[in-house]
Order: sequence, then structure tokens, then C-alpha cells
Amino acid sequence: MNILSLAAVAASFTMSLAAQTQAQSGSDELTRGAYLVRIMTCADCHAPRDATGAPDPSRGLVGGNVGFRVPGLAIVWGPNLTPDETGIGGWTVEDVVRALRTGETPEGRGLIPVMPWPAYAGLSDEDATSLAAYLLAQPAVSNRVPEMQGPDDPAPMPYFDLVLPQ
Ligand code: HEC
Repeated sequence: MNILSLAAVAASFTMSLAAQTQAQSGSDELTRGAYLVRIMTCADCHAPRDATGAPDPSRGLVGGNVGFRVPGLAIVWGPNLTPDETGIGGWTVEDVVRALRTGETPEGRGLIPVMPWPAYAGLSDEDATSLAAYLLAQPAVSNRVPEMQGPDDPAPMPYFDLVLPQ
């Protein structure tokens, strides 16, 4: 083993120690929230995709760079879910829980169900609150995703075309 790979092993050991310490000192709620974010695939739509089109959760929930076109309705990009003013900065835990379960934003707008809130309506209080606490505890990252577009408008960023059953 050369000195460089020894240094890499030492660095990854230090990093995993740091991660462990953080997990132990962080609340169970945040650990649960991180786990739910992972298994509920929030990053598929709320994190950028790499050049092959695969979601890249390591970049954080800073907003999607590939949107969804719902025929006859809109083209929409997964918003930035970090607590920045270009994301959900200013939202309370209750605001996030309401959006997840009922699809209603603090301004009273209904989210297009590309965001799978009808499925998330069944979240327990504990899980919904853990998700919200986790989102609001992330580092704030400034990244504004494109505004929602009409279904036939020219789109500023790529999108998936949803085909509805006839
Ligand atoms: C299949 C794609 C998809 C998945 C998976 C998904 N979302 Fe979304 N989400 C969206 C889209 C698209 C919107 C915007 C819809 C609109 O504006 O009408 C959205 C909107 C939101 C909003 C409202 C944000 C705002 O600024 O208005 C929140 C909060 C949110 N999602 C949280 C989550 C969380 C937490 C998860 C995982 C538990 C998740 N989403 C999973 C696509 C998705």
C-alpha cells in the first residue's frame, strides 16, 4: 500500500468517525427523516440528474434539472427543498407536513400530483414531522428551478414526457 492510499484510508476513517459522531449527536428525528427521504426517492425529482440522466442524490435536494410534462396541464420541475429563499426557506414544519399530505402550499396552491402527495397522504404524524424536520435542517442552497410552464410552451430545461393511459 503506498502512502497515497494509506492517506485515503485514514481520511475515510476520519470521515466515517465524523459521520458517526454526527448521527449520535443529531436527533433520531433527523436520522429517520434522512432514511425516509432515501427510501421515498425524493431525490429522483428534487435533485439534479447527471449527464446519463441518472438522479444524483449526492448533490442534495437542491431542485431537479429534468422536469415532467403532464399533457394538457403543465411542465414542472421538482423544486429546491433546502431552506433557502429559492427553496422552502420560511416554511414551517406544519407547512411542509401539509404540502406532503394534502398537496397544498402555504400560498394555498395545489401541487400537481407528479409530486406523489396522494400517496404521501397516509404518512404518520411522526414520519411526516421527521421528513419536514430533516428538510428544514439541510444546508440552504441557492438554486432556482424554472417556473412552471404551459404544456406546449418552449421549456427552458429538459423534461420527461408523461404519457397518460387512453
Ligand atoms: C416523481 C417526482 C417527485 C417525487 C418522487 C417527489 N416529489 Fe416533491 N414535488 C415534485 C414536483 C414536480 C413538485 C412541484 C409540483 C407543483 O409545483 O405543482 C414537487 C413539490 C414538492 C414540495 C412543494 C415545494 C414548493 O416549493 O412548492 C415539497 C415540500 C415536496 N415536493 C417534497 C417532497 C418530498 C419530501 C419528497 C420525498 C418524500 C418528494 N417531494 C418526492 C416531484 C416529486
